[in-house]
Amino acid sequence: MQLTNRINRIQVSPTAVVISAAEQLKAKGVDIADFGPGEPDFPTPDHIKKAAIKAIEENRTKYTPTGGIMPLRESIAAWHKRELGSDYTAKECVVTVGGKHAIFNAISVLIQAGDEVLLPAPYWVSFPDIIKYAGGTPVIVPTRPEDGFSAKASVIEKLITPKTKMLIINSPSNPCGGVVDGPEFEKILALCKRHNIWLMGDECYSHFVYDPHKPFSIASARDSKANVIIIGSVSKTFAMTGWRIGYTLGPEQLIQAMIKVQSQSTSNPTSIAQYAALAAMQGNMETVPPMLAEYAKRRNRIVEGLRAIPGVTCEWPGGAFYAFPNVSAHLGDGKSAHAKNCTDLAKLLLDKAHVALVPGEAFGAPGFLRLSYATSLDRIEEGLRRLEKFFSRSEAAA
Ligand SMILES: Cc1ncc(COP(=O)(O)O)c(C=O)c1O
Repeated sequence: MQLTNRINRIQVSPTAVVISAAEQLKAKGVDIADFGPGEPDFPTPDHIKKAAIKAIEENRTKYTPTGGIMPLRESIAAWHKRELGSDYTAKECVVTVGGKHAIFNAISVLIQAGDEVLLPAPYWVSFPDIIKYAGGTPVIVPTRPEDGFSAKASVIEKLITPKTKMLIINSPSNPCGGVVDGPEFEKILALCKRHNIWLMGDECYSHFVYDPHKPFSIASARDSKANVIIIGSVSKTFAMTGWRIGYTLGPEQLIQAMIKVQSQSTSNPTSIAQYAALAAMQGNMETVPPMLAEYAKRRNRIVEGLRAIPGVTCEWPGGAFYAFPNVSAHLGDGKSAHAKNCTDLAKLLLDKAHVALVPGEAFGAPGFLRLSYATSLDRIEEGLRRLEKFFSRSEAAA
């Protein structure tokens, strides 16, 4: 079949591939220790579910304005101001079908052939493909494990060319929990202003940060508005991945252009989900600290457990819910190696040890694996036991 060059430039999300392989084994009755999905294992809070039920009962089941109902746009701007110190109005906000849709639409209205987009690695799998789909070129910014995988202004500056249009900072990051602290983020913003570059801040994990980090938005910095595009989502903060509500905050002209794309594609995000998100934004945040406390316990256990495996190193993630161990000591052609690369290793781990995780190659980080710890402590213990047994077999063979 003759498909467009545009679609041939991208691939199916590698995380989706792992999740579906694990699901196939589960369907055959295999017990999988599943560290694949980047999705909270908590239920959506009751007050949010009730708001959706009420919306259905009140027949709020029709088209809404394309960019979202005005009370939700207002509430997102007010929530962001309250929680993260920004200063947006409803006109500077568009409601989207999840954070991924917000990124897709913002990039499609700002990036075209010949444009370069700076992207720190390890990066979330969808960024490079969304950039390529728009015709742009991702330019990878290296980060170091010993810096907590945090992007540095000094490294970014060296990669700026006349073609650079945008820099994406996802903090806290998927896949490695990297957090860019406030002062460094402000240096990066200054750089973007000096070179007239868009700074896209993906804040989908903003409220899942561990001591000493605090939730932070670059939109709280003075004079940031002309260069900054904020991407947010209710998916992770409110355990609402299936509801598909995200948003962008940014200059009104950008928001209008994004609404134009939406008007010719998805139209409005689901009306019922918008009312649920409205309850999330207007409600108190008391469901967040218990989730964070649970993630913190799991983080401690999984990082300690991974570090106890010979030949595995693992940094402490500053935020989000992913551990990102370096397993390169177990790779290679020698007798003691399990596999040549992490893609093969992840396949082996799934087939032989029944552990599902995502290979680092998917995130521009060969030699690493991503384990989501949005799963119970019991399953984490079971997964660690299996990993330890699997890797100790190569030690014995060495
Ligand atoms: C870094 C990052 N950004 C954006 C998203 C998009 O989330 P959603 O489309 O569910 O809002 C995800 C989801 O995994 C993510 O990890």
